[in-house]
Amino acid sequence: MKVSTTTDTLQSWEGTSLIIGLIEGALEQKLNQLERRIGESLSESLKNKAFNAKSGEILSFQLFHGPFKKLILIGLGESNNLVLNELRKATSAVTKETLGNNGVLGIDFPWECFDSNAAVKAVAEALRLSRFKDLRFRKTPEPSIFPENVELINFPESTNQILQEVHPTCEGVELARELVGAPPNFLTPNELANQAKKIAENHSLEVKILDKSECAEKGMGAFLAVSQGSDLAPRFIHLVYKPKGAVKQRLALIGKGLTFDSGGYNLKVGAAQIDMMKFDMGGSAAVLGTARAIAELKPAGIEIHFIIAACENMINGSAVHPGDIVKASNGKTIEINNTDAEGRLTLADALVYACELKPDKIVDLATLTGACVIALGEEIAGLWTEDDQLADDLTTAAADAGEGIWRMPLQDSYKEGLKSLLADIKNTGPRAGGSITAALFLKEFVEESISWAHIDIAGTVWTEKDKGLNPAGATGYGVRTLVNWILKLSLQFK
Ligand code: BES
Ligand code: MG
Ligand code: ZN
Repeated sequence: MKVSTTTDTLQSWEGTSLIIGLIEGALEQKLNQLERRIGESLSESLKNKAFNAKSGEILSFQLFHGPFKKLILIGLGESNNLVLNELRKATSAVTKETLGNNGVLGIDFPWECFDSNAAVKAVAEALRLSRFKDLRFRKTPEPSIFPENVELINFPESTNQILQEVHPTCEGVELARELVGAPPNFLTPNELANQAKKIAENHSLEVKILDKSECAEKGMGAFLAVSQGSDLAPRFIHLVYKPKGAVKQRLALIGKGLTFDSGGYNLKVGAAQIDMMKFDMGGSAAVLGTARAIAELKPAGIEIHFIIAACENMINGSAVHPGDIVKASNGKTIEINNTDAEGRLTLADALVYACELKPDKIVDLATLTGACVIALGEEIAGLWTEDDQLADDLTTAAADAGEGIWRMPLQDSYKEGLKSLLADIKNTGPRAGGSITAALFLKEFVEESISWAHIDIAGTVWTEKDKGLNPAGATGYGVRTLVNWILKLSLQFK
C-alpha cells in the first residue's frame, strides 16, 4: 500500500473509493460539494440513517454512476474536540471498512485544522498499523486485500517528505508486535538474541551478545539469579547505533526481556494470567523495534545503545528460593523476598551495565508491575523520572504518537518498604504503591549523575480488544514514542 498526498480537490480527484471526514455541526458545505461531484443528493439518506458526523459514525454508499465506486462518510465529532487521535481513529475504522477493496483510495479530511506533517504521519501510520495481522502461526494464512494506493486529497501543498519517516517507524512497530506475539517456545532468550543480531547485520548496527559465563564475569548476580531455574541459557544483548559525523549526545535504551515469566517459586496463580507472560519481553521488543527504525532513519548527532538482559523466569531444582540473597554487578546485595518481582532484578544489572557506558540519558521500558495496570489501565503507561525536561520530552513524544503516558512520583519515603534485615535492599515492597517501589528499586542501580526515566508498559503492551490502530494482540507500544523523542532530540544536531 502506497500513501501519498495530492493537491487534487474533491472536484478533480478520481479513484476507486473516496472517504470524507466530516465535522459535527459543519456538514453543509462539504456535502454540497460532494453532491455536486457525484450528481446525486445525499441529505435524505443522511437523515434516514440519523448521520450527524458524531465521532465514530460511519456510512457507506455504493455509487453506480458516480466518479468512484464507493463513498464512505466518517464522523469526526465536534471541531473543538478535533485532535490527531480522532484522525487515527477514523482512519482505522475506514481501513477496516475498505478491507477487500483494491484500487485507489482517496481520503479527504479537514487537513486545515491540523499541522500538515503531523496529520499526514498520523493517518499514514494508522492506515498501516490498523491492518496488522499476525499470520505466522497459521497453517494456511487467509489473504487480506487492501487498496494499492491511498491518496490524501485536498492538500494545500505537497507534504510527501514526512511519509519517509512512516515506513521505518511502522516496520519497527510491526517487529515489536511480532516479537511480543511470538510464543515462548519460539521466542526464547537465544532467539531474541538471534533476532537482535539479524537487525544489526541487516541495518549496520554494532552488536555484542554476552553468554552466561560472560555475565557471571561481570558479576551480574541479580540477572543470573532470575535465569537459573530455566533450561534455557540467558543472553545479554547490546546493539549500538553510531551516527555519521560528530556524536553530541549518548543515549541508552533498556528493555525488560523476560521471554516467559512463570513467577518462579512465587508461581503466578489465580487471576495472574500466567499464559500471557510471553509478553513480558515487551520492553525489549520496543527497544529492538526502535533500533530497527533508528538504523534506517539515521538521526544525526546521537549515539544510541540498545540493551536487553534476556532470560526466562522458571522453576526447577536450581531455581532461586524465595529468600535468597544475591549480588548485583554494582556490588549491592538483594534479598529476593518474591521471585515474581524478577524484572527489576534483570534490569538492575542492565542499568549498571548502561551506566558504565556513561550515557547522557537512560530510558528503560518494562512490563514491570501489575500495580501499574491497576493504577493506569491498558491505555496509559507509567513514567518515572526526576528529570523534568526528560519527563516533558517523553510526554510530548508519546502525545505526538497517540500513545498514552502519565508521570508518576518517585516517592522517596516509600523506599522504607524495600528495607531488608540482612541485605542492602529487598526486591519487593508492600502491595500498596507497588509500581512506585518497583521504580525506586531500579533507581538504586542508576548513577546519580545520569538522567534516567523508567516506563512501565505492563498495561499497554497488549490489548484483548481491537483498538483501531492497535488490533487485538501485541501493540508495539513505545516504538513510536521513542522514535519521536529521538528524532526531535536530533533536530538540534542537524
Ligand atoms: N511481569 C510481571 C508484571 C505484570 C503483571 C505485567 C501483569 C503485566 C501484567 C512482573 O514480573 C511481576 O510479576 N510483578 C509482580 C510484582 C510483585 C511480586 C511485587 C506483580 O506485579 O504482581
Ligand atoms: Mg514476575
Ligand atoms: Zn515479569
